[in-house]
Amino acid sequence: MPTSQLMTMLVFLIILVHIALVSSLNLRPGYYSETCPEAEFIVRDVMKRALMREPRSVASVMRFQFHDCFVNGCDGSMLLDDTPTMLGEKLSLSNINSLRSYEVVDEIKEALEKACPGVVSCADIIIMASRDAVALTGGPDWEVRLGRLDSLTASQEDADNIMPSPRANATTLIDLFHRFNLSIKDLVALSGSHSIGEGRCFSIMFRLYNQSGTGKPDPAINPIFREELYKRCPLDVDQNTTVELDSTPRLFDNQYFKDLVAGRGFLNSDETLFTFPLTKKFVKLYSKGQDEFFRDFVEGMLKMGDLQSGQPGEIRRNCRVVNSVADHLVVGPQHRMESNHKSI
Ligand code: HEM
Ligand SMILES: *[C@@H]1O[C@H](CO)[C@@H](O)[C@H](O)[C@H]1NC(C)=O
Ligand SMILES: *[C@@H]1O[C@H](CO)[C@@H](O)[C@H](O)[C@H]1NC(C)=O
Ligand SMILES: *[C@@H]1O[C@H](CO)[C@@H](O)[C@H](O)[C@H]1NC(C)=O
Ligand SMILES: *[C@@H]1O[C@H](CO)[C@@H](O)[C@H](O)[C@H]1NC(C)=O
Repeated sequence: MPTSQLMTMLVFLIILVHIALVSSLNLRPGYYSETCPEAEFIVRDVMKRALMREPRSVASVMRFQFHDCFVNGCDGSMLLDDTPTMLGEKLSLSNINSLRSYEVVDEIKEALEKACPGVVSCADIIIMASRDAVALTGGPDWEVRLGRLDSLTASQEDADNIMPSPRANATTLIDLFHRFNLSIKDLVALSGSHSIGEGRCFSIMFRLYNQSGTGKPDPAINPIFREELYKRCPLDVDQNTTVELDSTPRLFDNQYFKDLVAGRGFLNSDETLFTFPLTKKFVKLYSKGQDEFFRDFVEGMLKMGDLQSGQPGEIRRNCRVVNSVADHLVVGPQHRMESNHKSI
């Protein structure tokens, strides 16, 4: 057998050994207590610094959990950059010009690689960082289950097909969440994540000026709030201009639900939760009781965090790229650094 063929076989053997061939992971709290005991402190520390540097960034990172977990499970796939042979999820309809603060995840990964190289997955980073974003902005704190692997691929097409439009009505959202075994309660509680962060004028132009092709605004918008939105998002606005998603965008609280009751929801997908009977009762409940909101939100985040792809994975060294073939060979640190930036 020629050496090149032997080499190829060897490479594949090594990859097989390195890629965990599991269809179901046993996620559990304290997963890194032996292999990287500082992991959760490190993540929270970087998130604290991100919050001080740019308050919105922690909301932007929190959104990653939704966009990661809904598209083929919580596997860090949305963090992969496009390659010549793979269209990743960053440019998908819901993510392009919208998902942001990828650099915060890079910073977390870098800190973790320094402390315990090759141990903590990017998928778990998203889960820990999302929890931290909520806890650091005044929301609940909770124990997360860990032990996820990072995907070997990403799918722009799947992201396009799955992620909901800001124009979605409650029926569409209920159906979508149901596909992931998430209840109507989970849908409303998880939408409460819009208690922090901002959205672009782009996401509400139709709602303000031509709801369902009527040439009129969405009648569910409170008239005073509508005038405010006309000023913030005039017809000729740069549609990347952002507006806060609730009236206390730096604070994780139940103000979002109070705003919905007052007709002050930003997106169609927000206000629809109040206008639709099956979701309305939860909006009312959470608008009156922050404790109930926090309790159900945590439950929803845990359920969403358990979604899995059943596909093989790895612990990525750089969250933006799949480990290359050379990373699976025993090579010096010099080579590893270089190969990190190439794709296979
Ligand atoms: C129920 C269906 C949902 C829809 C249709 C939706 C849609 C959107 C849209 C359109 C934006 C603004 C994007 C832009 O204009 O660039 C946004 C922002 C955001 N979403 Fe959602 N979302 C949903 C559920 C969720 C869930 C479940 C989470 C997290 C658990 C989440 C977290 C966030 C956060 C934190 C922001 C603000 C991000 C920032 O400031 O950068 N969303 N969402
Ligand atoms: C919700 O939106 C879907 C998809 O756009 C549409 O088919 C359906 O008729 C809408 N449902 C209601 C109650 O408006
Ligand atoms: C939803 O639950 C059913 C029954 O427990 C299970 O077979 C299915 O795989 C679950 N779907 C998802 C997306 O987790
Ligand atoms: C509103 O939308 C309808 C249907 O999509 C379209 O025919 C109409 O030209 C739009 N009107 C304006 C003012 O953009
Ligand atoms: C927002 O900014 C991006 C990047 O600068 C640009 O490509 C895009 O066209 C802008 N989007 C809108 C809706 O103006």
